[in-house]
Amino acid sequence: MLGNFVFSNPTKLYFGEDSLNYLNEELPRYGKTVQLVYGGGSIKKNGIYDKVVDILKANGKVIVEDGGVMPNPTVEKLYEGAKLAKEANVDLILAVGGGSCCDYAKAVSISAHCKEDPWEKYYLKFEDVDADTKIIPVGCVLTMVGTGSEMNGGAVITNPKSKLKIGHVFGDRVFPKFAILNPTFTYSLPKYQMAAGFYDILNHITEQYFSGEDDNTSDYIMEGLMRSLIHSSKIAVCDPENYEARSNIMWTATWALNTLVAMGKETDWMVHMLGQAVGAHTDATHGMTLSAVSLPYYRHIMPYGLAKFKRFAENVWNVDPKGKSEEEIAEEGLAAMEAWMKEIGVAMNIRELGVTEEMLDGLVSSTLIMEGGYKVLKKDEILEIFQESM
Ligand code: NZQ
Ligand code: ZN
Repeated sequence: MLGNFVFSNPTKLYFGEDSLNYLNEELPRYGKTVQLVYGGGSIKKNGIYDKVVDILKANGKVIVEDGGVMPNPTVEKLYEGAKLAKEANVDLILAVGGGSCCDYAKAVSISAHCKEDPWEKYYLKFEDVDADTKIIPVGCVLTMVGTGSEMNGGAVITNPKSKLKIGHVFGDRVFPKFAILNPTFTYSLPKYQMAAGFYDILNHITEQYFSGEDDNTSDYIMEGLMRSLIHSSKIAVCDPENYEARSNIMWTATWALNTLVAMGKETDWMVHMLGQAVGAHTDATHGMTLSAVSLPYYRHIMPYGLAKFKRFAENVWNVDPKGKSEEEIAEEGLAAMEAWMKEIGVAMNIRELGVTEEMLDGLVSSTLIMEGGYKVLKKDEILEIFQESM
């Protein structure tokens, strides 16, 4: 393990079919007023809203409703939520939904009592939360699997006016205090969202895997996570209510992005930067923005990290190396990934997400360049990758 690092993850997880009962254990730790954050209404249709509200009422809580969090939460919604939290002086923010609700809840938790404009401070200047800013505790009841937001400090916010979608990964103090993971809560997800989540998980792992050249325990953990995901996702697309598959995927998603596998790694994150630019211009589903740009990106950087792509092919996709060159093995690995992507049904190009030729220059301008992967991209390479993704 190269480098010096600190590992700490303060989020307490409750996992399984009975996990919502543990909300009764958590609620007494916080004050009376709870801001209940949720999305566009799926939790009202599938009954999760009623279950959560019953528990909140049984624990004597005052509920401040904050619904309507959109996928890819916007800065306007953040301002509204922060105002609500401040005015009601809420004691706990409970997010019931997917990554959008969890991310939004975290962003509100650090913005409500922030003296500056949170978009400017946290997202444009990338500043941390001031030591004297009160952070409202956050809890999550997860209903969509993919982002890992339930056990990390990430909070991605979109500014539709400036066409920027920016993620800030905050430290321990911003992690959810607890998260409740009931795999059956994800059964009602539309197939499109389910598949998008599966690809998001794989990509979180590859973003961390494709960096560095040393022998690192994190890479071995990631190979195991990817194998489990590939196995279970094939089952889940045919049989969405297969508990064994859905529960394994839910657990894998959490470990893919709860900081553990980033230890000792430089990490790449360039697919997310390209995907976030697509998201900022089209408001497309997060996981699909990643799948649509991934193959052109990975084929572009493969020569610079050939040994790792070969290892990926052999250890994750079971490519038989006999009689093949390093390049052939590596390419076969990406071909296997492509076949799996088609099997689970993810977007394979950005055109189907609403991107047109006229938008490509804007996409390039909205793409932040990261430097931890095998190749630091130049602007013309980014344009090329977007063109190949059309
Ligand atoms: O809004 P509702 O009505 O709830 O519907 C949602 C939404 O339309 C629906 N849904 C969620 N659970 C459901 C359900 N529908 C039926 N049954 C259920 N059980 O699914 C749609 C998508 O939900 P959303 O929360 O937007 O999806 P996801 O979990 O993929 O979150 C995406 C956001 O997370 C950010 C993304 O950029 C995006 O803004 N990310 C956060 C990360 C982090 N915190 O570390 C990392 C990720 O890379 C990602 O960037
Ligand atoms: Zn992601």
